[in-house]
Amino acid sequence: MSQRDLPIIIQGGMGVAVSNWRLARAVSQLGQFGVVSGTALDVVLVRRLQTGDPGGHARRAVAQFPIPGIAERVLDRYFVPGGVGNGERLRSHPMGRLNPSRSLEDLMVLGNFVEIYLAKEGHEGRVGVNLLTKIQAPTIPSLYGAMLAGVDAVLMGAGIPREIPRVLDDLAAGRPAELRLDVKEAARDEVFKLAFDPGAYCGGDPVPVRRPDFYPIISSAVLATMLAKKATGSVEGFIVEGPTAGGHNAPPRGKLRLSDSGEPIYGDKDVADLEQVAAVGLPFWLAGSYAEPERVAEALAAGATGVQVGTAFAYCDESGFSPELKTAVLARSREKSVEVFTDPVASPTGFPFKVVPLEDTMSEQPVYEKRTRVCDLGYLRTAYRIDGDTVGWRCPSEPVGDYLRKGGDEADTVGRKCVCNALLAGIGLGQVQKSGEPELPLITSGDDVARVARFLKPGADSYTAADVVEYLLRDIPRRSSEGPGFGR
Ligand SMILES: Cc1cc2nc3c(=O)[nH]c(=O)nc-3n(C[C@H](O)[C@H](O)[C@H](O)COP(=O)(O)O)c2cc1C
Repeated sequence: MSQRDLPIIIQGGMGVAVSNWRLARAVSQLGQFGVVSGTALDVVLVRRLQTGDPGGHARRAVAQFPIPGIAERVLDRYFVPGGVGNGERLRSHPMGRLNPSRSLEDLMVLGNFVEIYLAKEGHEGRVGVNLLTKIQAPTIPSLYGAMLAGVDAVLMGAGIPREIPRVLDDLAAGRPAELRLDVKEAARDEVFKLAFDPGAYCGGDPVPVRRPDFYPIISSAVLATMLAKKATGSVEGFIVEGPTAGGHNAPPRGKLRLSDSGEPIYGDKDVADLEQVAAVGLPFWLAGSYAEPERVAEALAAGATGVQVGTAFAYCDESGFSPELKTAVLARSREKSVEVFTDPVASPTGFPFKVVPLEDTMSEQPVYEKRTRVCDLGYLRTAYRIDGDTVGWRCPSEPVGDYLRKGGDEADTVGRKCVCNALLAGIGLGQVQKSGEPELPLITSGDDVARVARFLKPGADSYTAADVVEYLLRDIPRRSSEGPGFGR
């Protein structure tokens, strides 16, 4: 694809299922780049099925899955016509591990297939999938599922995704793919690999799939240069994300210093050198408070192909946040009474995580303290060596005693939140724990949330993805058949 054909706007991947198929589809149909969050789509699928799959969308996509037998098994096990009752517990499913069971692999492949299939249904626009490098166990089956549905690009941050280009090449060629698993307490020469064989998975000849473009999400020019030269295969572009973006942020360079309010302090060293990024010669998009027409112009003037925007899309009609949360946050933004807090410890990953302070959510200390710790989703666990070729998994947000028994350090558990359960609660798919406690949300957004109400037209209390796209491209001339355009 020539750079001239690349869209100016990438709607960022926002997990879990905030960037769902509806949002990505809406943005793609507008000629821009819609991105689905591929994180935890196995659990999203089984929970949507258990809540009755309103509209039948998941079942429509499942029916198109090209490998026989799997769709029926998953529907038999998880689909509940009419949905489970209010306050009823949702059925759990296995957590990720080094050698996942076939049924877990099926959910990871199918979950990603379904979301991409629906995002691409009925139009020719481009759709990407976003995964977090840190969450390793589901990565290869998730990529394969997305590729089975024809995903156009893979975007990955939260770590250095050096090995992903080779994984994409292998899957596209129908070869077995491997990914080195990071294992704490393992010796240097002990290598643990996550593996997936498309041929074996398809029970013979692998279903042919196309190699998507790969766009690492980075925060420095050094990483752009390194990945362009040293990744295991081709990289087609970059997202350069700054510390005001929603979700997880790269930690500040150097020693961590906190402000009086307890937030990480970022400085000049954390600003990527865009001349150096441009010198790599690949397309790039800038992310982190770029949802203004003037900032789009600034990005283009710096040599970027465009911008990646998250927060502005997170509160539009098509996003996956529950309607009550959107209404509450938009109301606060309108009153100019919302400001994100960059929490240095909330996320079990150890990366700073942006949190929107909101009552009845996990941002509030008393709400957090009331929750009984339980780890039943486990996406953010870290692998650790037990002995020989055995690995265990631990999460600093799990019950403290369990974490210590697994060799974890008590200091790491302080202030950690169960981001997995909280993010699912934020999209209306929260669990009710065995104790009867409902899981409550934790909302992440970029600094831009303070002003997100600017998208509300006078008298309106909601807006659409099209409103965001139109606003961002306000000053960009429309593409005509004769002359060069800007992805419009
Ligand atoms: C609710 C929300 C969830 C996000 N989740 C992810 C994620 O799972 N993976 C990721 O790479 N980026 C994530 N992001 C970052 C966005 O993809 C995007 O880069 C960022 O929001 C751009 O900055 P902005 O929020 O100022 O527009 C998230 C952002 C938001 C607002």
